[in-house]
Amino acid sequence: MKKLSTALIFFLCVGCSQNVPQQGTTSSAPATTATAPAQEATTSKNPEMDRFINDLMAKMTLQEKIGQLNLLAVGFDVTGPVVSKNVDEKIRSGQVGGVFNTFTPVAARKLQEFAVNNTRLKIPLLFGYDVIHGHRTIFPIPLGLSTSWDMDMIERSARIAAEEASADGLNWVFSPMVDIARDPRWGRIAEGAGEDPYLGSQVAKAMVRGYQGDDLTQNNTVMACLKHFALYGAAEAGRDYGTTDMSLQRMYNEYLPPYKAAIEANVGSVMTSFNEINGIPATGNKWLLTELLRDKWGFDGFVVTDYTAINEMIPHGMGTEAEVGALALKAGTDMDMVGEVFLKHLDQAVKEGKVTEADINTACRRILEAKYKLGLFQDPYRYTDDNRATATIMKPEFIDASREIARKSMVLLKNKNNVLPLKQSGSIALIGPLAKSQRDMIGNWSAAGDWKKAVSVEEGIRNVVGNKVKINYAKGANIADDAQMLKRLNAHGGQLDLDTRTSEAMIQEAVKVARASDVIVAVVGESQGMSGEAASRADITLPGQQLELLKALKKTGKPLVLVLINGRPLALKWEEENADAILETWFAGTQAGNATADVLFGNYNPSGKLTTTFPQVVGQVPLFYNHKNTGRPYGGQLLDKYKSRYLDVENEPLYPFGYGLSYTTFNYSKPQISKTTISPTESLEVKVDVSNTGNYDGEEVVQLYIQDLVGSITRPVKELKGFRKIALKKGETQTVTFTLKPEDLKFYNYQLEHVLEPGDFKVYVGPNSRDVQEQSFKVQ
Ligand code: NOJ
Repeated sequence: MKKLSTALIFFLCVGCSQNVPQQGTTSSAPATTATAPAQEATTSKNPEMDRFINDLMAKMTLQEKIGQLNLLAVGFDVTGPVVSKNVDEKIRSGQVGGVFNTFTPVAARKLQEFAVNNTRLKIPLLFGYDVIHGHRTIFPIPLGLSTSWDMDMIERSARIAAEEASADGLNWVFSPMVDIARDPRWGRIAEGAGEDPYLGSQVAKAMVRGYQGDDLTQNNTVMACLKHFALYGAAEAGRDYGTTDMSLQRMYNEYLPPYKAAIEANVGSVMTSFNEINGIPATGNKWLLTELLRDKWGFDGFVVTDYTAINEMIPHGMGTEAEVGALALKAGTDMDMVGEVFLKHLDQAVKEGKVTEADINTACRRILEAKYKLGLFQDPYRYTDDNRATATIMKPEFIDASREIARKSMVLLKNKNNVLPLKQSGSIALIGPLAKSQRDMIGNWSAAGDWKKAVSVEEGIRNVVGNKVKINYAKGANIADDAQMLKRLNAHGGQLDLDTRTSEAMIQEAVKVARASDVIVAVVGESQGMSGEAASRADITLPGQQLELLKALKKTGKPLVLVLINGRPLALKWEEENADAILETWFAGTQAGNATADVLFGNYNPSGKLTTTFPQVVGQVPLFYNHKNTGRPYGGQLLDKYKSRYLDVENEPLYPFGYGLSYTTFNYSKPQISKTTISPTESLEVKVDVSNTGNYDGEEVVQLYIQDLVGSITRPVKELKGFRKIALKKGETQTVTFTLKPEDLKFYNYQLEHVLEPGDFKVYVGPNSRDVQEQSFKVQ
């Protein structure tokens, strides 16, 4: 565990009377001389909650209400430029609604006791944290979770994270991140579910269900926070925090669906994004936060900013600190993360008539409602039981789940001559800067994860095959040779050692080791800090001398198996042309090494499929499967000049969306459709027979896409509208039936109406977005 902050040391319990206003009864808060005017009428569906909060708010001063809108970072790792100051004093004077970065039952209890015992109205705090892909037991990074295409598993990962986080003092998690991302230069592509709105929506719902369960008042559920609202993944040039600017049609059809899905799944809170949206930063964007989110989508939780996002509207060019504070509140922001702009300016803003007390009441009520929904007024200490933490955190079944989910997330990109699975005999040359890494296994945003508990690939191989296989190791290359890059990565927890030998010497050693072994397993990729927040890369090939290393290894003539560890699609043209096998493992979590060895040695047959397109070269990006056609599509005629193409590279990706191999083979029949013409209110059944024609039992993700051939606005060449992950024994055939509903054929037209336009459609079914078979149908 990391050290307690100095502020927390001050929070040793002082008397601890538990006189919190009691949820479910009328408030026991002491009568005061509150200055608040009558409370605004509420529209919540819970009259008991409304009565309770009305009662409480009637006792609150304006300053105390503003205090509820303030979220501070207390202790542990702080993920941005501002560290909250004088926390104890601020809590005591009712200036804090919630904290983040404080966890463990002891620390959370102390802080909660401090708030409850030292404030006038004894309102409990929210405890938030970046629980992104697991809390203590770490699962694959979200991009990896998505490549499992297994919604039950994804939900289970969030459920386990909620069990652990809630046992660890937390009641609020800053997840799921559902930003559609199509640019692999953007480091945060690692944190989402990839490029597709339909898949992204299913993942968003599964995550919210996993965190929140059916009942937020249970002590093993936590409130989720949908982020980053909105369009954060569309940053220009893939540079983090960059500008976004897009048509409303693209926004509604391609970027907004996962956010909307999470709202429909009843997510309790929403975090604003750092970027601007068509000229107005999200945090001050009333259209986004009020008209769309609340008025159209019916969101009734609270909106928190991202870290200092209100303050950041100053460099965005939106005005002074006081002005951007008022702008944010008026737009629909309820809680200010770390920036303390609300705290500093809202009081005065009311006096000057820039905002009204009613605006503040609205925001305050939403935050109090969240606390009520979590049951905090009933028992502020419900998440701080030490025994529960000991019994829950990293328990064996969670570790087993982590291994299982990690295996399911891995994607086999190439397997020439079935070099994989490896024989459990002979010798392997285990080479590469990531072969022994533990730190990198748990990836970025593994905030409370302990990398020392992670299993490296080397250890995993030893665990799985013991002495049956001789391992000959060489590092072969540094993960990066650029001293500046290493310095930056290490300044943020990189744990990277620079081997000071020349790269020639390291490569020579690796070649020697390879020559003395039967097969090469090269564990290469990125260090965890090379993706994630503020970790964009303009060059998405293997960093450092790793490619040189692979070229030298190739010359030995030994079978070359690549185990990739990375947080984004990489440009792997040479690797695809020259390696015998490539296994994409992402940052697979606490059990990464064991899971990788399970796959390498055939104890698990890989079943993951890509959820982002892999380009051949970075110059092709953004490259995504569900693009529009052009008026001049390239049809493959080399000398056709006036076509939409590059002179120096093909249009095609290296690996398409949905792609991934198995140790077995699957055969697809041509899809059959129930009718060739349907009415606009009818559903269509699509059936396909999938057979396991190879030598292993295996799982397959059967994918269904549609194309709307003619529309009032142009439509994508393909859109995912269904998928099914099935298990097939060798020799087995299953019929998979999809039901395409009218809803699946709709889109937002030029006027942003959600419509189904009669006409001609195609439906495609296959193992990925490229290798499909089709049928045609008509809606009339
Ligand atoms: C900034 C990140 O953008 C966001 O995802 C995270 O939840 C907050 N910091 C809090 O750490």
